[in-house]
Amino acid sequence: MRKNLIVGNWKMHATHLDAIQMVQKLSLRLDFADHDRVDVVVAPPFTALRSTQTVIEADRLMIYLGAQNCHWEESGAYTGEVSAPMLKKLSVRYVIVGHSERRQIFGESDGDVNRKVRAVLAADMTPILCVGETAEEYDAGATKDKVGSQIRAGLKGISPDDTSTMVIAYEPIWAIGTGKTASADDAGGMATFVRETVTDLSGSVGEDVRVLYGGSVKPGNIAGLMAKRDIDGALVGGASLDPDTFASIVRYWV
Ligand code: PGA
Repeated sequence: MRKNLIVGNWKMHATHLDAIQMVQKLSLRLDFADHDRVDVVVAPPFTALRSTQTVIEADRLMIYLGAQNCHWEESGAYTGEVSAPMLKKLSVRYVIVGHSERRQIFGESDGDVNRKVRAVLAADMTPILCVGETAEEYDAGATKDKVGSQIRAGLKGISPDDTSTMVIAYEPIWAIGTGKTASADDAGGMATFVRETVTDLSGSVGEDVRVLYGGSVKPGNIAGLMAKRDIDGALVGGASLDPDTFASIVRYWV
């Protein structure tokens, strides 16, 4: 049984003080039944991880901490980078890897993404591997080629046991921050394709991997997406910054 998972990617928003308020407000809007049904994760910027961790631990919140990126080495001369073991020490559980903004703006290659996936697993955290096609690739009918190759590259050398713990987020780039969402049918179809690709690579653990959809997820479209067999949750950007809105997404069935 795969538990639903809703992840808020705050991107480069929120100071460490804002983050305290955001996570406290979010927790007030959720109850045991919600946490029973959905694993809720927030991924603040690095500078807000410590303050968010402190609130989560002090108030025993059932919200998990995520990070938005990491480096693949444990330590070394990599100015400006943060390693997976450093995140683990902050009680980070999930690390977003290969987000399209990292790939496109910061030039992360499939090889970099694979090294990061391995580093996150080695530090005993859960990678959220992001994959997705551009608008041009979508128009050219190349969506599956692109997503399939990103999954194969991202999972290269990862054992089926480790793969079974992972999360893969299908995020069509043309839907991120644009207000355009893939239709629930298209998103559901791609989630099935993601699972089939993992099954081809790693065998039956494809059924254990949690597959998320991301790209302009909102309270108004989440229920339709969650109704799809292979969609186990969502990676939410803009709509995760407002605790009321994000809580409505987590409570999509209400
Ligand atoms: P969005 O971002 O919800 O603002 O489209 C999603 C993401 O980038 O993960």
